[in-house]
Amino acid sequence: EKGGYPSFMLKEIAEQPRAVADTLLGRIDGSGALSLDEVRIPPEALREADKVVIVACGTAFHAGLIAKYAIEHWTRIPCEVELASEFRHRDPILDPQTLVIAVSQSGETMDTLMALRHAREQGARVLAICNTNGSTIPRESDAVLYTHAGPEVAVASTKAFLTQLVACYLVALYLAQVRGAKDADEIRAVVRDLSAISRSVERVLETMEPVRELARALAHKDTVLFLGRHVGYPVALEGALKLKELAYMHAEGFAAGELKHGPIALVEDDLPVVVVVPSPRGRSVLHDKMVSSIQEIRARGARTVVIAEEGDDEVVPYADHLILVPAVPTLLQPLVTTVPLQVFACELATTRGNEVDQPRNLAKSVTVE
Ligand code: M6R
Repeated sequence: EKGGYPSFMLKEIAEQPRAVADTLLGRIDGSGALSLDEVRIPPEALREADKVVIVACGTAFHAGLIAKYAIEHWTRIPCEVELASEFRHRDPILDPQTLVIAVSQSGETMDTLMALRHAREQGARVLAICNTNGSTIPRESDAVLYTHAGPEVAVASTKAFLTQLVACYLVALYLAQVRGAKDADEIRAVVRDLSAISRSVERVLETMEPVRELARALAHKDTVLFLGRHVGYPVALEGALKLKELAYMHAEGFAAGELKHGPIALVEDDLPVVVVVPSPRGRSVLHDKMVSSIQEIRARGARTVVIAEEGDDEVVPYADHLILVPAVPTLLQPLVTTVPLQVFACELATTRGNEVDQPRNLAKSVTVE
């Protein structure tokens, strides 16, 4: 059942191009516009929504953090993202104009379920983004958009994460479409970019051997830091989470701009720091700031592992290790930059002798609060 792969995790990483394509399937009409009739929330309700609140845990929470950038950018509706376990206990402000999005692979995560129950009690509408047909979270929500990742067996979430991102982008574009926040041609252009991503993920997977070599070379380290900016920041958090849960290593993700407010004190000679670099095209200020962050940490001895877009020559002099990914639009970049981090964590954990499909102390679905 592992399809010839040594672990479910490696099989699921390899399935990502297909999972991404499957999640788009049937959701784009002949003209290239979105057709998401399956989201049964009436368009008037989506037009009236004045706030989006995303609740989720772990990796699904990281997908939510990325969704915020897309939702606010494309729809101009304010969006909050909160850990489901924190949400309910702080008396959040919710009303019928609030659209709550609950993101969960399993559909059984108790913290997320309790958060959505609380939201519905306050009159908010809840849309679930879920990978498991008929599970509790979609059953208790007003509507559901299923991710079509197929069953995810390994405890560490990989293909479910990429498909959660795709589903979040679809919801963001759908909101923009029904609210008229973007014109039809702009939406079609983003949908075209999204449809091309599966091929880009495939290309990333074809070039992972140097990442595996690097993981083996760093397997004896105690700490790895991850830096990102904008949508690269949640990617950094996700890279760190993968390394914690699989390699049992101290790993932390930071927003690069926060370095100078404390974390830079951690940097010492030969400390591996993985940096997710925004595209040099588009909003180049993000890129320039990231290049200065890399210079700063490198000047203090960090061993830099730089994930950058193909053709980004500016970062080359500061990269001790360079991992190149295909150029894609900035907001969609997490779909390609996350993949090397999954491969890195999986290989590093395997080198340390860990069981990657079933890490210690963890369960695939966390059905207790
Ligand atoms: O099934 P869910 O998406 O609700 O699960 C949420 C988290 O428990 C899950 O993403 C967890 O963080 C993964 N093990 C991360 O790889």
